[in-house]
Amino acid sequence: MLNRKIVIGNFKMNPVSLKETENIVSGINKSISNIKKTDIVLCPPVLFLSNLKNKKLKISKKISLGAQNIFFGDTGAFTGEVSAKMLANLGINYSILGHSERREMGESNDLINKKVKSALSSRITPILCVGEKDRDVDHEYLNFIKAQVEECLLGISKNSLAKIVIAYEPVWAIGSNATREATPEEFREIRIFIKKILSDKFGAKAVEALRIIYGGSVHPENTLSFLKEGHSDGFLVGRDSLNPKKFLNIINITESNS
Ligand code: PGA
Repeated sequence: MLNRKIVIGNFKMNPVSLKETENIVSGINKSISNIKKTDIVLCPPVLFLSNLKNKKLKISKKISLGAQNIFFGDTGAFTGEVSAKMLANLGINYSILGHSERREMGESNDLINKKVKSALSSRITPILCVGEKDRDVDHEYLNFIKAQVEECLLGISKNSLAKIVIAYEPVWAIGSNATREATPEEFREIRIFIKKILSDKFGAKAVEALRIIYGGSVHPENTLSFLKEGHSDGFLVGRDSLNPKKFLNIINITESNS
């Protein structure tokens, strides 16, 4: 059985107001009546999440909301943090974890592992980001990705794999300063590589339901090739998720190739 495809929007620290956030979300919301086979997840800044849950906005059930990060405790003396449990109580279903921009601020695989476990225990689907900073000729980057996958998923049960999304986002392909986009072939190789790491540990069956998606300069123009040649289970979209027209384009292309 083929897994459902998933398209995730990572708004990052954008936009600056609730009004603008609502405009983006409504722009996406009004044109998804034809979407049946693709999961859509929007991850705006955390402070706007509860407003987006407001019934007056009439956001379709087809859109799930996600956070861009969580803390690993449930409650307590952790100034400035938001827990998976709090988000789950608000009806949030996903959280991006271990994004390279957070790793750059000092998040380790060990910390991300705690967050993954905390998310799973609150029924929040972790969107675990992995990806190397550079591609060296000795292929050392493969060991780097392997360590990220193994250490971030240390101690999880094999049944949890179906409840996790892994986003392969090579750091060099992210954002407006990207050196270049990854090629669909590069993504396909890493997807197989991650599946192999996890099937050695959990068995091939457990890995079947795991979705591995591509992120890093995803645009409507490269969406199809990542689906067809890259065999991607979907996308983690940064910049183009802030533009409803482009994001809907990515969703529609994904839907027609599901
Ligand atoms: P980008 O960001 O699509 O703007 O490259 C992707 C991401 O960082 O998730």
